[in-house]
Amino acid sequence: MAASRKRPRTNQSPTQNIIPKNELTVTVIKADCGSMGGHTQPSSGMLKLVEDYIAIRPWVIDYKITHTGDDIAIITTHKEGTGSAQVHKDCRNAFDIAAAKASKEGLYGAGQDLFPTSPSGNVRGTGPGVAEITFELLPKHRPAESIAIFAADKCGPGAYNQALYQSFADPSRSSGFLLAPDISKGFTFVIEDMNHKVSRGAAATHRKVRLNSPEDNVAILALLRNIDRYGVAEIRSRVFPEETSVAVSTDRLHNITGIYQGKDDPVMIIRNQKIFPALEEVIDPFRLVSLVTGDARGSHTMPLMPVAINTPVAGSYCVPLVTCLAVSVNGEGKFSEFVDIFANVAWDRYRGLALEKADIMRQQAPFGVGMASQEEISYTGLKILQDKLEKKFALEREVTRK
Ligand code: 13P
Ligand code: MG
Ligand code: MG
Repeated sequence: MAASRKRPRTNQSPTQNIIPKNELTVTVIKADCGSMGGHTQPSSGMLKLVEDYIAIRPWVIDYKITHTGDDIAIITTHKEGTGSAQVHKDCRNAFDIAAAKASKEGLYGAGQDLFPTSPSGNVRGTGPGVAEITFELLPKHRPAESIAIFAADKCGPGAYNQALYQSFADPSRSSGFLLAPDISKGFTFVIEDMNHKVSRGAAATHRKVRLNSPEDNVAILALLRNIDRYGVAEIRSRVFPEETSVAVSTDRLHNITGIYQGKDDPVMIIRNQKIFPALEEVIDPFRLVSLVTGDARGSHTMPLMPVAINTPVAGSYCVPLVTCLAVSVNGEGKFSEFVDIFANVAWDRYRGLALEKADIMRQQAPFGVGMASQEEISYTGLKILQDKLEKKFALEREVTRK
């Protein structure tokens, strides 16, 4: 969920809550608005309409429109703060325009992630995934603003848990803990219970716990290992508690609709370098191509394959994808050019590794760990079949012959 600095800004308009001039917000909002020939990628016409709409919003300082598989991501910088109704409404409008185009083009799943909006204008709980961080621009302790923006398709928000634990809590994997005193002091993990549901019409709440690494590492691991239930909402510096490094979208579509309706396909912002782990430390764990819940019908276990931005889903059983864009932000809140991290040749080997792991997982077919946990499956049609079969079971008395 959102990571804000100093004051909670959710559901407040800019007039209710004056944002200091030197603060900037980076907002990444993603949604599946429809895709070509299955859950592959949006059409160029859809992407153009989103870009045309966002480019002229008065609040936008800078923006980039991308897609990862079938999900469109709107990446913006602005001064409206996190949870801004205006920002959320405009992004939702852009997605609605893309969904109308998808529908006109006869594409699959037009408007898949777009459910009825809330009166507040906040898109949380209405389908799109949101990651936002507000921070002071270029303070003394952070003379350059360096950011990595991740987007993943065909998986749930827990897909980032292993990478985040290793970069932000494990000194044996992330040498910054040994080499940089601000990092040695550790980080605060804000972990969200993604099973928490809010009934329709009730005030939006999130069930979260704050745990400090390194002393709470065992507790952090105990939660994050359950990738289907717990996700990292935020990670903050302990030396500069106002400074948020990580924000992840943690919405679950099945909590909104009660049925399987596409995977949650999370986006994530990581402010890196200086007081936070370096870019190389936050991307390193993606070499492991973690097994995550997702892929075909969101119901299996498959590896997370690092790929270039704007890659369609074309692998066997929708092998899950993750993209990473590295970018700097200047004193005016403008982006530099973007570096497409996983497009680099250095990642070819790990794509190969992901495909090898995917072959092994496919040998499992639906047996055992080949399929997602029973908890995840219970939002699919398999639950109907299981419930029917449950009624056919009968107790048979064991016969003992004398
Ligand atoms: P998405 O969540 O990316 O739309 O994928 C859904 C699906 O069922 C793929 O098989
Ligand atoms: Mg889709
Ligand atoms: Mg998707």
